[in-house]
Amino acid sequence: MRDEQHIGVSAQLLAWYDLHAREMPWRVGPAARAAGVRPAPYRVWLSEVMLQQTTVAAVRDYFRRFTARWPTVEALAAAPDEAVMGEWAGLGYYARARNLLKCARVVARDHGGQFPDTYAGLIALPGIGPYTAAAIAAIAFDRAETVLDGNVERVMARLYDIHDALPGSKPVLKDHAAALTPLDRPGDHAQAVMDLGATICTPKSPACGICPLRDPCLGRARGTAPDLPRKAPKKDKPVRLGHVYLARHADGGWLMQRRPDRGLLGGMLGWPGSDWSEAPDPAPPFAAQWRELAGEVRHTFTHFHLILRIHTAELPDGPPPEGLHVVGKHAFRPSELPTVMRKAYDLWRGQ
Ligand code: ADE
Repeated sequence: MRDEQHIGVSAQLLAWYDLHAREMPWRVGPAARAAGVRPAPYRVWLSEVMLQQTTVAAVRDYFRRFTARWPTVEALAAAPDEAVMGEWAGLGYYARARNLLKCARVVARDHGGQFPDTYAGLIALPGIGPYTAAAIAAIAFDRAETVLDGNVERVMARLYDIHDALPGSKPVLKDHAAALTPLDRPGDHAQAVMDLGATICTPKSPACGICPLRDPCLGRARGTAPDLPRKAPKKDKPVRLGHVYLARHADGGWLMQRRPDRGLLGGMLGWPGSDWSEAPDPAPPFAAQWRELAGEVRHTFTHFHLILRIHTAELPDGPPPEGLHVVGKHAFRPSELPTVMRKAYDLWRGQ
């Protein structure tokens, strides 16, 4: 239900956005947008998929590198899988990068290189979920879709003083966000709520004094804002252990493994090693005088913490063991490794 009050709130928010919109390499700011400039759907899609992983600050460089190398969806669709996985390395959630490529290929092949311009058309594409479909429909095509991410949830919980805990409260928060979404400038509105959440209505110590929504905000009036949204307690993550084996040839090449497409770090390059479990069996890729490095690598995945022991040995001449290959000194780029594998390399380098 949209009423006068909702219209007033979204107008205040848009007036604030007109003055304070953050600059982002993929964004068409409010002044340019008012002058009729529209963002390229390819850039909106790419940035929104990347932003699901991490912060705006971290995404900037990835976005610039991707768009410099692949300026259009057709260019990305034609890229070799390994090149895209290598550019994505470090962003995490590698299944998302494989879906990104799948999506680019479907858009290039089945849609003549044009992204569909509706929520229904977008959500039918690989790797595009409700958040991304709504964000692209709103930002690229000015459809009045409701975009709900962590920032928007926080702003809604505070504005309407919702005490139910996430994730159960999502539908209620989404109803509020939907009621606020204006028919005019829905793309700017979506970006305005996210900017407000990122810069003013921050998780800790929100800057209520300078907030454009301080008057209508129930959480501010009742003093609850800093404690919202409530969240259901998270389960503790289990700890798993593993071993990896860094075998280096005298000429500088490394023995490596491309991980299977399915599963954790799917499709990424990494070091051979054991399974990751409570008590993994060591699994050197060949018999040698392996030396265990001092220290260990710690890395947290979505569902567990991992502690890796790192072993190293000289790689002998001859064909590599089955399923492994040697990456030559000049082809070896640590930046193309997923973060956990990069940490293992960094530990080796620091010894
Ligand atoms: N976070 C994710 N997408 C965003 C966007 N389009 N604007 C601001 N913050 C965002």
